[in-house]
Amino acid sequence: MANEIIMLCFLAFTFIGCYLVAASDPKPLQDFCVADPTSSGIVNGVSCKDPLFAQASDFSFSGLHIPGNTSNSVGSKVTPVGVTQLPGLNTLGISLVRIDYAPWGINPPHTHPRATEVLIVLEGSLLVGFVTSNPDNRFISKVLYKGDVFVFPIGLVHFQQNVGKVNAVAIAGLSSQNPGVIPIANTVFGSNPSIANDVLAKAFQVDKTIIDQIQGKF
Ligand SMILES: *[C@@H]1O[C@H](CO)[C@@H](O)[C@H](O)[C@H]1NC(C)=O
Repeated sequence: MANEIIMLCFLAFTFIGCYLVAASDPKPLQDFCVADPTSSGIVNGVSCKDPLFAQASDFSFSGLHIPGNTSNSVGSKVTPVGVTQLPGLNTLGISLVRIDYAPWGINPPHTHPRATEVLIVLEGSLLVGFVTSNPDNRFISKVLYKGDVFVFPIGLVHFQQNVGKVNAVAIAGLSSQNPGVIPIANTVFGSNPSIANDVLAKAFQVDKTIIDQIQGKF
């Protein structure tokens, strides 16, 4: 009996362990693997440059103090620091973004297919939220102020809105060197080629002319 309980615990821990590993990038098998974007090798990530040639500049990025330009239709700008901008992040399962928001600007509903996101507000106040998966689709949201931190679990649709009269700034860490982003509106209404309007009309339970109108914006 005791042995069976130990075995069950072992299986449970094994399963949880596997789940945690699967929720972020694969763990590295060496100190680092600085991305070599010129390599023709196809790997899960980016090929490594010879570690002997790695330099401090491979592990650093400058300019995140510079506000992003929020003069656009949504009033926000994401400045990413992923493996493309910081080659030393390759295989390490982590990255960063700076997000700037004009007053009432939004970072529209989107998901990250490969990362959980933890966000800290540096300036201003943000309404943030995410929606749980089916069947509940529960909307979990909160207004954050300077110094507040919020986590968006991997894969879930989430957004932020500046609810103050001044600019807002946030920094977010993501559990992937390349989190990816799927903006809901752009992917559904702005795909190339377009999804047929009768498909979207039935999905959204509206007239096709409304779909044409939305598709025209992307
Ligand atoms: C910000 O973006 C807008 C729209 O693209 C552009 O007109 C403006 O010059 C940009 N401002 C700066 C400071 O780059």
